[in-house]
Amino acid sequence: MPNEALFKPLTVGAIQTRNRVFMAPLTRNRARPDGVPGELAAEYYAQRAGAGLIISEATQVSPRAKGYINTPGIHSDAQQAAWSRIVGGVHERGGKIALQLWHVGRISHVDLLPDGDKPLAPSAIRAKAQTVTSEGMIDVSEPEAMTTKQIRQTVQDFADGARRARAAGFDLVEIHGANGYLIDQFLRDGSNKRDDAYGGSIENRSRFLIEIVDAVSDAVGADRVGLRLSPTGAFNDMHDSDPKALFTYIAKTLSDRGLAYLHVVEDFGPAADGDDPKAVLEAVSRAWDGVYIGNGGYEADRAANAVRGGHANAIAFGRAYLANPDLADRLARGAPLNTPRPETFYGGGREGYTDYPLLEAAE
Ligand code: PHB
Repeated sequence: MPNEALFKPLTVGAIQTRNRVFMAPLTRNRARPDGVPGELAAEYYAQRAGAGLIISEATQVSPRAKGYINTPGIHSDAQQAAWSRIVGGVHERGGKIALQLWHVGRISHVDLLPDGDKPLAPSAIRAKAQTVTSEGMIDVSEPEAMTTKQIRQTVQDFADGARRARAAGFDLVEIHGANGYLIDQFLRDGSNKRDDAYGGSIENRSRFLIEIVDAVSDAVGADRVGLRLSPTGAFNDMHDSDPKALFTYIAKTLSDRGLAYLHVVEDFGPAADGDDPKAVLEAVSRAWDGVYIGNGGYEADRAANAVRGGHANAIAFGRAYLANPDLADRLARGAPLNTPRPETFYGGGREGYTDYPLLEAAE
């Protein structure tokens, strides 16, 4: 079999996956305005149940955690019920699925938030970044610095989201600590200028993340909790003076928590300035004792090599999964892949969502 290394089962915390071809989280903006996943989401995810593990699109843990039009949430009974139907379809086909827990922080706009609230952030610094509202692409709003009370509430929101996810049947939850959203904004010193216990030193900047990891672990068990980080990314205006020290500290500190996995965005958007990205990723993966999922720009050969060579235990595919519902099967057979259509990535209906052909249909 081509790419054999990708087709051995893997123990990921509390679960076993049937292969190491995972589906990366993909924002699709097809949920209802109230954050209930859309009509077609169950079909979309069920089509992709052949992945060793599906990681859901980023899902807000509270109304104020939202930053883009029509993204789903996990803070209401109606949202939970819709997710439960989606999970049921994946499980019926023998798949496994994690829910990604998300707070966008300052990557939002007042028009998307309840009562015209400002976005929340570690510090009141507007990002040089854009989001999408009903008006289209638009600069993000100026955020307000979170109070200690808001920090405590947000940690609880992540734990509540995790509890709802498990109640909906999700196998695992993934904490979104990557790509310039709220947790990442706390981690990096370009966006975190706080002078309390959540800012300043690496230990202090990591405190918010670690409190979330511990609260979510208390809620659902550490062996059902994954974490996604992007140590080398500059997406959403991220800057840090010493990413290698920051992210190796996090990987080391969290290694004894018994988490299900660390999921690393190795390549997405512009690279952060500073250390050589390769050296940073090497150091992070060496510091982490546990299952490591690599993500970003992998194709079949490089993915199989990364698993065979011990760099990663599994690889998460984004665009390739978006365009190939049967990606794992195609990689197992060395079959050609459908080409993703970027104009249908965000928003819309069936087109570019549930209509990519299976291998049999394409033959
Ligand atoms: C996006 O909607 O552009 C987006 C969402 C989550 C990510 C990255 C990008 O982690």
